[in-house]
Amino acid sequence: MKHFISADQFNRENLDELFDLTQDIVANPSKYSKSLEGKIVSVMFFEPSTRTRLSFESAILRLGGKLIATENAKTASSASKGESLTDTIRILQGYSDAIVMRHFDVDSSKVAASVANVPIINAGAGSGEHPTQALLDMYTIRESKGHFDGLKVAILGDLKYGRAIPSLLKLLSIYDNITIYALSKEAFSLPEEYIELMNKRNMKYVKCNSFSDIPKDVDVLYHTRIQRERFEGDFGKEEFIINEEVLNNFSENTILLHPLPRTEEISSDVDNNKRALFFKQAVNGMYVRMAILAKLLGKM
Ligand code: ASP
Ligand code: CP
Repeated sequence: MKHFISADQFNRENLDELFDLTQDIVANPSKYSKSLEGKIVSVMFFEPSTRTRLSFESAILRLGGKLIATENAKTASSASKGESLTDTIRILQGYSDAIVMRHFDVDSSKVAASVANVPIINAGAGSGEHPTQALLDMYTIRESKGHFDGLKVAILGDLKYGRAIPSLLKLLSIYDNITIYALSKEAFSLPEEYIELMNKRNMKYVKCNSFSDIPKDVDVLYHTRIQRERFEGDFGKEEFIINEEVLNNFSENTILLHPLPRTEEISSDVDNNKRALFFKQAVNGMYVRMAILAKLLGKM
């Protein structure tokens, strides 16, 4: 795998391999502390980020690599003077061995990969995909459930503009007998293209109108933030808020995930609940990103 731009690049085998490597990195970090020795990675974020950018930066440093970065490439790089993305990539590949990029255009990582001679890693592309997010989501699910076949997953929040959900659906579609329950305000319903994708890939899709339409023994509740930066107008606040009372209506084995940042959709009274795994998820992200970098660039 040269570039890493879509969750569709994964199958059961390479996903298992990546997660086994992640587990080994967690257990034996010193074994990997020189994996990226001599390598420089560009970190170019054209959109805001806390977790993805800093966990990638930490991952690079923990693997013994170095990085060059712009905190806000939209205004602080020469993109603000009108330089094209392809020209930017042609320059960065002369300075570094891989490029981790977040960009507001859905096609940005494909466009970057079309001219790049070093690996491009998609760290979020408009409302298209966020594949490394989906990998850390799946890793967190594997840690707590131990399997993927037969899972029942409820997706909530902004199913229209969010990019974490499309990548997650693609990874889940690798497995058998997956059921997706979708609960959102009408304005943020899942686009038809993802309903078709689930049909084609033999996933069961159930549109829900309230929490009570989601079965009590659902394996995963995956909530997301309304992506206000991606649309004009005001569709109001999130209607389906998960608090302790709502969470307690589900089985003890139901886990609660969220890509973060959260806003109003999950209240802080669930933070210490053992089923609320979103902070763990964010830490897992660093280890999964270490595994991705080690695979793409590392001495292994
Ligand atoms: N951080 C995730 C993303 O960049 C989710 C979000 O921002 O709501 O897609
Ligand atoms: N989950 C996620 O991508 O977070 P950031 O936007 O803070 O990177």
